[in-house]
Amino acid sequence: MDVIFLGPPGAGKGTQARILEQRYGIRQLSTGDMLRRHRAEGTELGKKAQAYMDRGDLVPDDVIIGMVERELHKPGGVLFDGFPRTANQARALDELLARQQRPAVAVLFEIPLEMLYERLTGRWSNPKTGRVYHEKFNPPKIAGIDDEDGSALVQREDDKAETVRKRLAVYEEQTAPLIEHYADRLKRIDATKPVETVTRELLSAVNLKDAVA
Ligand code: AP5
Repeated sequence: MDVIFLGPPGAGKGTQARILEQRYGIRQLSTGDMLRRHRAEGTELGKKAQAYMDRGDLVPDDVIIGMVERELHKPGGVLFDGFPRTANQARALDELLARQQRPAVAVLFEIPLEMLYERLTGRWSNPKTGRVYHEKFNPPKIAGIDDEDGSALVQREDDKAETVRKRLAVYEEQTAPLIEHYADRLKRIDATKPVETVTRELLSAVNLKDAVA
């Protein structure tokens, strides 16, 4: 089964995708992480994406859709984290999944926008693995150091207050309308709760509990 995570920046999509991937082996496909890897490696795609990401804008659909399509040839279900984000991307994903006869369910992370500033401006992440922490809600054991591999944690350029405002506006304008697109297969979860509670709600919403118990 494929699962599509919908929700605003900072709602906790990446946190939950990583937990499900680590605990249950479901592959996370985060377009944001993929783009950051391209940037770190200095690829042409990464260079093209850089200015859009730094401004808090979306990277053009053709770049994103091509990047995702190349990943869908691998076997097994996928957690789509941060994709689709536009009507064009949603249509392209529908076609890609239909061609492979893959059923998908969508999960909406519901959270008031005013809670997102604190989540995003307090976020620290491992630039190598993408693992995220929060200085207040989910701190590492040693400040600034990843618990798992000891890497120095960094703050994302686009988590500055001004860029966060832009990203939230872009979400409202271009991505929130997708909630309607997925209305017939949409599950809603309360993303304001603590991480473990959200994981439990998520497992029950997507009916993975029995499969992974
Ligand atoms: P992307 O990397 O996808 O960023 P995003 O969608 O803005 O999502 P975030 O990573 O900011 O939030 P999240 O929901 O994953 O929250 P997280 O779990 O980290 O995209 C970045 C950019 O890339 C875009 O702006 C765009 O330019 C480009 N891009 C990517 N995909 C694209 C696409 N499809 N099309 C076009 N352009 C694209 O949690 C946030 C913080 O909260 C963390 O510190 C975490 O520890 C904490 N936290 C998590 N859960 C909880 C909880 N339950 N309680 C308390 N704190 C919590």
